[in-house]
This record gives sequence, structure tokens and C-alpha cells, in this order.
Amino acid sequence: MAKNKKSPVENYHDRVAGIYDTIYDNNPYWEAVFEITWRHVLKFLPKDLSTRCLDVGCGTGRWGMKLFKTGYPTDFLDISWKMLDQVGKKIDKLAPDKRPELIHTGIDDLSMIQNETYDFIIGQGDPLNCADRPEKALKELCRVLRPGGIILMSVDNRHAGIFHYFRAGDVAGLAAFIKNGKTKWVTDDPSEQYDITMFTADNIRALCEQRGLKLLSLIGKTVLPLRRFQEMLVDRNQRLELLKLEESLNKVEAMLGNAAHLEFVAQKPAKD
Ligand SMILES: C[S@@+](CC[C@H](N)C(=O)[O-])C[C@H]1O[C@@H](n2cnc3c(N)ncnc32)[C@H](O)[C@@H]1O
Repeated sequence: MAKNKKSPVENYHDRVAGIYDTIYDNNPYWEAVFEITWRHVLKFLPKDLSTRCLDVGCGTGRWGMKLFKTGYPTDFLDISWKMLDQVGKKIDKLAPDKRPELIHTGIDDLSMIQNETYDFIIGQGDPLNCADRPEKALKELCRVLRPGGIILMSVDNRHAGIFHYFRAGDVAGLAAFIKNGKTKWVTDDPSEQYDITMFTADNIRALCEQRGLKLLSLIGKTVLPLRRFQEMLVDRNQRLELLKLEESLNKVEAMLGNAAHLEFVAQKPAKD
């Protein structure tokens, strides 16, 4: 399904699509984050393998491919065609007879998808942050979710963006950012920067309430300084211990502010 005009966010992700997976390879911090994420996903993933899944902002398909390989009928959606192309290549290799839908659109316009199509929607990374209209995006995601269905998304945490304004000595910018979460995704090439909105835990709660979603879980990823001290994750036993500690703290309100990402799981009410 085609989209007409390329946005800066699409341009950027088109450019990095071919090397995207390698950015996360052999990195103890990201491996830990992926492990925590998958365990969190598994708590909410229905056991029924006919559950219809959608990976939004799928990138190269890290999460949707896991669902697809597990046996769930899974479709993939991204604003970047080149990211979807990477997913298509993986599907061709793994299961050339299967044709999941590769949907090329922004999450704030899902008009090509019928109401109540999916039971489980996953959106990892930051598609909600990058959406031009995050409230509209969540509304659309709820529309295509079946009653009783689950939405699981991770977002960039506003508190993690504060340091950037201190580094830049930009107090006026900091004040505005704390208020509305609007900022730019900083890339090496300034012409590639694009607008994003970063969220607080309270924003997530308010957004879910606004859409009538029941918030089932809200965690920080990661609330311990695992990125800064990633060499501590190399030893297997120490890593297991640190992940256990992380998971014992990642729902604690006072710890959420430490995390680069927040991840929420919410359920659409079942029909009576
Ligand atoms: C940080 S990457 C995450 C990719 C993948 N979910 C993962 O965890 O590896 C964010 C992805 O979201 C996509 N994206 C950004 N804004 C979007 C939007 N408004 N609608 C749909 N996809 C979007 C990007 O093209 C990119 O592939």
C-alpha cells in the first residue's frame, strides 16, 4: 500500500534501513533490553496461535518476526518502505509461501485497515514519539484493535531528554521541553533531524484513559544504569542477577524517570 510524500522521518529511516540491525549487534546493553522486552511481551501475548498480530513501526521486523516465527499471523507496518523491504526479504527467506501484509503508512493514518482487525499490536522503538499526531495515532491503533485486544508499545521517556538541554546550556528550551515534550531527533546530519514528542509516565496514563484503554503494565527500560555500565552485563551470572534486579524495580514509580524508554501494555475493553 503506497504513501505519497516522504517525510523527514521516512527519509531518515529509509537511509538507515540497510544497516539498522547491525547497530544493535554484539551490544550487551541492547541484548539485555531485548531480553527484558521479550519477557514482558510474553506475559501479555495470548496463547492462542490464531491471534492476529500487527507490528507497528516494525523497522526490520525484530518483534513482528518473533511473533511470525512463533506461529502468529502477523502483519508489518512502517512509515519507511525500505524498512518494510528488509522485512519482506526476511519473510522470503524464511517462509516464501507466506505473504504477511507489509503496510506502508504512518501510524496516525491507518485508513487502509478495517476496524477491529488485530488482537495484539506491538510497537517497539519510538513510532508513537515520531508520529505527527500521537493522540490521533493511538486513536487509530485502538480502532483497528479488536475488543479485548492488547496494545504494547515502548516510547522515549521525556525525563531522559532533559540532559540534552543541560549539555546545550539551553534553559528556555528545557522549560518548553519539560512542558510539552516536543523536541528534535538529533542526528549527525542536521538536515535529517525530525520532530518528536517524548512522553512521561503520566502522559501515557492520560493517553490510555482518554482512549478508554485499561493500563495493564507500565515499565521503564532500563531503570538501572545498564547502558552506562554495560561491561557488567558480559559475565553471564552477573548479567542474570542484574536483569533480576532490573525486573524487580522496573515498575517502581520513583525509578521510571531513570529509563530511556517507557513501555506500556493496555487493553481495549471487551464488548458486553
Ligand atoms: C527505532 S525504530 C524501531 C524498529 C523496531 N520496532 C525495533 O524495535 O527494532 C522506529 C521505527 O518506527 C518507524 N516509524 C517512525 N515513525 C513512524 C510513524 N509515524 N508511523 C509508522 N512507523 C514509524 C521508523 O521508520 C522505524 O522503522
